[in-house]
Amino acid sequence: MTRFGLKLSASLVALALVAGGPAAAAEEVEVLHWWTSGGEAAALNVLKEDLESKGVGWQDMPVAGGGGEQAMTVLRARVTAGNAPTAVQMLGFDIQDWAQEGALADLNELAASENWDTVVPAALQRFAKHDGKWISAPVNVHSTNWVWANKKIFDELGIAQPNTWDELVAALTKIQDAGYVAVAHGGQAWQDATIFDAVVMSVGGPDFYKAAFIDLDPDALGGAQMTEAFQRMETLRGFVDENFSGRDWNLASAMVIEGKAGLQFMGDWAKGEFLKAGLTPDQDFLCFRFPGTDGTVTFNSDQFAMFSVGTERRDAQVKLASSIMAPSFQSAFNVVKGSVPARTDVSDADFDACGKKGMKQLAAANDAGKLFGSMAHGHAAPASVKNAIYDVVTAHFNGEFDAATAAEELVNAVDAAQ
Ligand code: BGC
Repeated sequence: MTRFGLKLSASLVALALVAGGPAAAAEEVEVLHWWTSGGEAAALNVLKEDLESKGVGWQDMPVAGGGGEQAMTVLRARVTAGNAPTAVQMLGFDIQDWAQEGALADLNELAASENWDTVVPAALQRFAKHDGKWISAPVNVHSTNWVWANKKIFDELGIAQPNTWDELVAALTKIQDAGYVAVAHGGQAWQDATIFDAVVMSVGGPDFYKAAFIDLDPDALGGAQMTEAFQRMETLRGFVDENFSGRDWNLASAMVIEGKAGLQFMGDWAKGEFLKAGLTPDQDFLCFRFPGTDGTVTFNSDQFAMFSVGTERRDAQVKLASSIMAPSFQSAFNVVKGSVPARTDVSDADFDACGKKGMKQLAAANDAGKLFGSMAHGHAAPASVKNAIYDVVTAHFNGEFDAATAAEELVNAVDAAQ
């Protein structure tokens, strides 16, 4: 709240300066985001510096909290107060919700002049456009069904990359028996849900994932496969350390980086932390898909939704959108962030082994019809449904329900949220 107050008064001061005379009206964007970890901040710097090189100032509005829930709460307060930021980091259905409210700007002129329609895949346009209008600029594609492992621990214990659920459980048992934390995890609803994305996919494959999280089919949400998914979550719960509750995701990454834990189940923003710590893929850490989900990708895309702002901020806003969409920027940014470009025409030359793998797998999953929006990161269902699923998954992970009851609760919660 303090930060909010401070920022608010800072922008009032800026406004007063602008009103004071045209000479003071330097171009500036105010950007609300939740990129506050080391790797995230390093990636954000690529964008800040790019804009600054074009003479556009950056007013930072960071709201900590992985997955962006807190950021969305602060955003609502800002818009309600009639003081929307220039641009806001946003995921999937949230973008569409704001567009529906009529709060977002129209980027069609820029999009047409830069051919966004042809270079941005349909899976992202589905969120970046509303009623035929471009309303946000997609900066990347992340995916949630990844595993990040400490290679030294794997080598020391003679563990090969697990390819099935049973192999995964055997590997985790070995790591735990050797005295390491097997699974580095932070007990926060969005992190529990991130693992659940992969677990649901591993139990029932693409058809089940789609039926449950995208079609919200009660038979899938409450059936035997969902009970099995919850049972798998219970198994994983047996491999986290006793201090997992409330831990931030980047601190869980640090446990793997520092050789305290064997692996982390997390989206590829985790790679940003490994790189920031000076680690190299295949040499210090391993990246592979959650066992049993090979060939499928559960994705989320960070986009910068552009709010309707007055004419005095419009030029800077358009420059921001144009910078985000530039192929060179999409490469430079995503190399650091751990994600892959939102454009299909960007070379993988500058990406490391995990990035190259990610780009190939994304394209292949897209071609095979095995690319699905991440439930945990707002690309499968609207926030109301997502939050209802979060509640059940977290309550179950913390032992409130058994697996069969959790599946029943899931049906009820999703029904009530629609
Ligand atoms: C975002 C990532 C971010 C992660 C953790 C995800 O929802 O898409 O960009 O790094 O949350 O904060």
